[in-house]
Amino acid sequence: MCGIVGYIGSREAYPILIKGLKRLEYRGYDSAGVALINGQGKLNVYKAKGKVSNLESTAEGCDTTGYIGIAHTRWATHGVPSQTNAHPHVSASGQIALIHNGIIENYATLKEKLIKLGYKFNSETDTEVLVQLIDYIQRRDSLDLAHAVRIALTHIEGAYAIAVVDTKHPETLIVARKSSPLVIGIGEGEFFIASDASPIAEYTDKVVYLSDNETASLDLRHGLTITNLDDVEHTPEIQTLKLSLSQLEKGGYPHFMLKEIYEQPKTIRDCMRGRVPESGTYIKLSGVEDNKERFLQAKRIIIVACGTSWHAALIGEHLIEDLCRIPVEVEYASEFRYRNPVINADDVVIAISQSGETADTLAAVELAHKSGAFVYGICNAVGSSIPRATDSGSYIHVGPEIGVASTKAFTGQVTVLTMLALALAKLHQTISDEKYDTIVNELREVPSKMENAIKLCTGMENMAKVFTYARNFIYLGRGYNYPAAMEGALKLKEISYIHAEGYPAAEMKHGPIALIDTEMPVVAIANSDSIYDKTVSNVQEVKARGGKVIAVVEDGDTKLSGMADYVIRTPRTLEMLSPLMSAIPLQLLAYYIAVNKGRDVDQPRNLAKSVTVE
Ligand code: F6R
Repeated sequence: MCGIVGYIGSREAYPILIKGLKRLEYRGYDSAGVALINGQGKLNVYKAKGKVSNLESTAEGCDTTGYIGIAHTRWATHGVPSQTNAHPHVSASGQIALIHNGIIENYATLKEKLIKLGYKFNSETDTEVLVQLIDYIQRRDSLDLAHAVRIALTHIEGAYAIAVVDTKHPETLIVARKSSPLVIGIGEGEFFIASDASPIAEYTDKVVYLSDNETASLDLRHGLTITNLDDVEHTPEIQTLKLSLSQLEKGGYPHFMLKEIYEQPKTIRDCMRGRVPESGTYIKLSGVEDNKERFLQAKRIIIVACGTSWHAALIGEHLIEDLCRIPVEVEYASEFRYRNPVINADDVVIAISQSGETADTLAAVELAHKSGAFVYGICNAVGSSIPRATDSGSYIHVGPEIGVASTKAFTGQVTVLTMLALALAKLHQTISDEKYDTIVNELREVPSKMENAIKLCTGMENMAKVFTYARNFIYLGRGYNYPAAMEGALKLKEISYIHAEGYPAAEMKHGPIALIDTEMPVVAIANSDSIYDKTVSNVQEVKARGGKVIAVVEDGDTKLSGMADYVIRTPRTLEMLSPLMSAIPLQLLAYYIAVNKGRDVDQPRNLAKSVTVE
């Protein structure tokens, strides 16, 4: 979704802003723009449809000087992707420029009022309404920019992270947020702002995460001042950023997605560090230890999430019910928040989100809080909105995920859910010592088994060529591998644009089997688990109808691999840990098919990494 970058200080802003926009490209966007105030106090605005490189071409040869500037990548909501609708938007006076991430819900009413006051609008965006409103309030009440912004925001319904500059005050940059992320980087006599820390990390490790309903004035003379909308000042909480530049770069891989797939043995080690001991079996999850009573009194756990995180949640449901005997419900956050769900004060609600910014998941967290439930977050992006809105939680610690298709975050989420289920099972005494020890010992082996899973995929690139022109795919799995099948299908459709569905294998005969013919590849995921033979029968039914079967099976498998057209092997592990193994070949299959089709693997069309609008 939209990305925001800003700079004020003693360096030329333009190169910093362009580099920052490139760091935010992963969020997904369709146009880009920049506004700079030059040494003569002139506002220069450049915008382009498409990639940041188009913006660079547009601005080439133009005046891009200035020590203060704001820049934006837009993911269209109100109005088509176009140069006119791209941000920054400029006020009627030509003095104020503004960039915005979020949605102004009451923009139509405000626009009507401003039109009556004589304002003219160039774009179809909701954002342009805000810049004209600030302009109107500033002129009407003869206010400085910070005050005008604060008053304007009290009239706004919706979500925003904004950055505003004023040619009359080139020494000040104003920012504000409500339900959309905004990070401030503090350097020596300079400030950076961005939607997340990635554009800031190379300049400073001192950051402030702005909270909802806060505005900040970044002033070269007076420093950083944070106030709420009632003009009450807050002391900024300066945090130290733990983000290395190598985590933000491709490191020799052709795509971030491939890097992130290959990184998984390491990221799962990082995820388990300090939680799964090197010897012994005591799982230490501080979020659970610090809140034992709340977990013990919970008669039910509800997990809310979207997309890939929702698939991880389904695996979490299996794990927690299996090991802890506590009922678990898994909900799409977008449905949960609008369907008046029953939430009890003694429920535990777990919100899973890689970005920690998904608007629907954040709203579900707020709803759960209102009902008095204890809310636990499982997130990746440190300091993001969901971990800050929850009562407690566990980070998955897999490092920044830049490819839009989630890979290492999925396995990180499943790993945290496994540790959580084990810790809860111990707490509830629903697991024997022997079973607990077996699972923990096997969990510790997961990173090295993942290394083998990657090695076992050596033929994948060639196999993917066979299926590059398939128009549909079906993914089948049962038990723990049913969510894994849905996740495999999601990976394929989002990056290759091939239609794919994940089904529980036994459901085929209730309808989808009608789709099977020689043109239909079927990916069947099966481990030597409690329902292996049942899955084999389901696959036989597919074979009998001419379907082309790609079997994802454990090393040493003979039965299913014997009947499949293509076989992908994964290292043997426990049934409940098997999605951590099958995830790797499924991610790689989708990746190579998408590469063969020439798709934009890291930034697939229409998708955004951080879905900050509902
Ligand atoms: C799929 C994918 C999305 C996200 C979903 C939720 O590869 O990335 O389906 O999983 O948008 O995002 P988070 O986890 O950030 O809440």
